[in-house]
Amino acid sequence: MILSNILALSLIVVCVALESGTLARFSSTSLNRLERIKSMYAWEGFVYDIEDCRTTAEMAQDFGEMKERGARVVITFEFCGTGADASFYDDVISAAGSVGIDIIPLACTLPIHAVGQSYGPNDTFLIKSVPRIEAVTQAVINNPDPVLAIAIGDEPLYDDDAGSPAALASYIAEVRRNLSTAGLDIPLSISDLAYGWQSSGNITPVADAVDFFMVNNFPYFAFDATTGGNASTSWNDFIQDIDYFESIANGRPILVTQTGWPTNEDEFAPNSPDIVASVPSSEGFWNLLDSHCEDFFKSLNIGWMWRSWEDDIDGWGVKYLNGTDKWHWNARTEC
Ligand SMILES: *[C@@H]1O[C@H](CO)[C@@H](O)[C@H](O)[C@H]1NC(C)=O
Ligand SMILES: *[C@@H]1O[C@H](CO)[C@@H](O)[C@H](O)[C@H]1NC(C)=O
Ligand SMILES: *[C@@H]1O[C@H](CO)[C@@H](O)[C@H](O)[C@H]1NC(C)=O
Ligand SMILES: *[C@@H]1O[C@H](CO)[C@@H](O)[C@H](O)[C@H]1NC(C)=O
Repeated sequence: MILSNILALSLIVVCVALESGTLARFSSTSLNRLERIKSMYAWEGFVYDIEDCRTTAEMAQDFGEMKERGARVVITFEFCGTGADASFYDDVISAAGSVGIDIIPLACTLPIHAVGQSYGPNDTFLIKSVPRIEAVTQAVINNPDPVLAIAIGDEPLYDDDAGSPAALASYIAEVRRNLSTAGLDIPLSISDLAYGWQSSGNITPVADAVDFFMVNNFPYFAFDATTGGNASTSWNDFIQDIDYFESIANGRPILVTQTGWPTNEDEFAPNSPDIVASVPSSEGFWNLLDSHCEDFFKSLNIGWMWRSWEDDIDGWGVKYLNGTDKWHWNARTEC
């Protein structure tokens, strides 16, 4: 009698647990995108370079592998071809959708590639960058479901891509209008450095135009940088930048869309004479971030994404170009 009561009770407990699990999942998917971004913390995923124009199947394979390893979000980097072809972003978005990972397409607003190109007369924001903003917007309208948010520019303030913060803000507003006409409400931001915001004069139009703050945070470039895992330099530099973003965010969510530490200095040179760019240094920075899951990322509801997936951004991947892991990386997605 008592035993069967206990059994019955434990069955009820199991059912309630299942039910509340289902409800929790239901309510988390019923959060709108901005609420989901606000609730995100810990390691979220990767920066993914699209410059070599992989096929939908190749991208789906990469995204699937990221997801198997715990990633939940991927943000694109650079651009394929001229970057103005909406159908390539259709491929990126459908590859993400096919494996069930959230995608943040980034409209690259630097008129040229970040590395290995110099400016020609046609390399202007209007000629090169605006068509990319339009292409990304169109692709998102074509297939919005896998899209978590849109990044309008990678360091567009730091590089002064649009000529002024007000000009950049006007394009953010245009994207918002076009999404709204299509019945969509998708969070918009720019992915930029604290220094980009700090050095750009009157940033109010951009600060007002974004829904949340996508942060590029690279202690590797700091003047006092040593090893990635050095808490007294890397972590201090990291949190100083977040403090700045907190000061301009007015309670809006923050997501570190790009952070990382390279294993060589080849693509982007450091500023510190004491820099160490190596596999242990990169691994040290990854583990430093993971170690602050409870006390920092969870307590502030901030997620972080690693630049980069592979070494197509030379030195910055968790994997070499041949797909081999540089170290046995893993990070907590909750804590
Ligand atoms: C710039 O664009 C014009 C018009 O499309 C073209 O005729 C010209 O060759 C381009 N110049 C360069 C340097 O690519
Ligand atoms: C917004 O829509 C207008 C009208 O279709 C179009 O001309 C413009 O290029 C679009 N802008 C963006 C950024 O998608
Ligand atoms: C960590 O940074 C401090 C402050 O610059 C420095 O004194 C120390 O040597 C560094 N440690 C390592 C392992 O690089
Ligand atoms: C992949 O590339 C790295 C770096 O060049 C090398 O150390 C490693 O042995 C390679 N792995 C395979 C399976 O080829």
